[in-house]
Amino acid sequence: MRIRIFALVLLTSAALVPFAAIDAQQAEPQKRSGEDLYQQWCAGCHDPGPGHPGTMRMEGDFGPENSVLRDMQAINRPLIHYAVRQGFQMMPPFRPTEITDEEVDRIADYLLEEGQ
Ligand code: HEC
Repeated sequence: MRIRIFALVLLTSAALVPFAAIDAQQAEPQKRSGEDLYQQWCAGCHDPGPGHPGTMRMEGDFGPENSVLRDMQAINRPLIHYAVRQGFQMMPPFRPTEITDEEVDRIADYLLEEGQ
């Protein structure tokens, strides 16, 4: 009996460990870097190379030297906020429940730093 209770305690605590780890991750969602957020929300369309609709479209509109969002000099913070909230022709808008204003700012920090 004693052994059984011990085994039970061991099992329950082992089962709790993964949940504790998940909790810690969810407690800090706003700590994600601008680069990380860019990778999640923007890279699929705006990374360099073929197969990225944003890059291909902007290459057609502005030429190859102004096609990669990350490298562009001509973007600024208000334009980034505007594009994310309103969408931009083919680009869909994003809701504040998906990307908060503060996260858009962090994406902008990353993009504007990269573009220099
Ligand atoms: C589903 C694809 C898609 C996603 C995802 C996407 N974009 Fe776009 N984006 C586009 C396309 C396409 C254009 C070009 C619009 C056009 O000219 O038709 C564009 C244009 C822009 C522009 C305007 C650039 C200019 O000077 O004209 C900005 C700024 C921008 N995107 C920012 C972002 C940011 C920041 C994210 C991530 C939060 C993002 N986009 C995610 C497709 C996307």
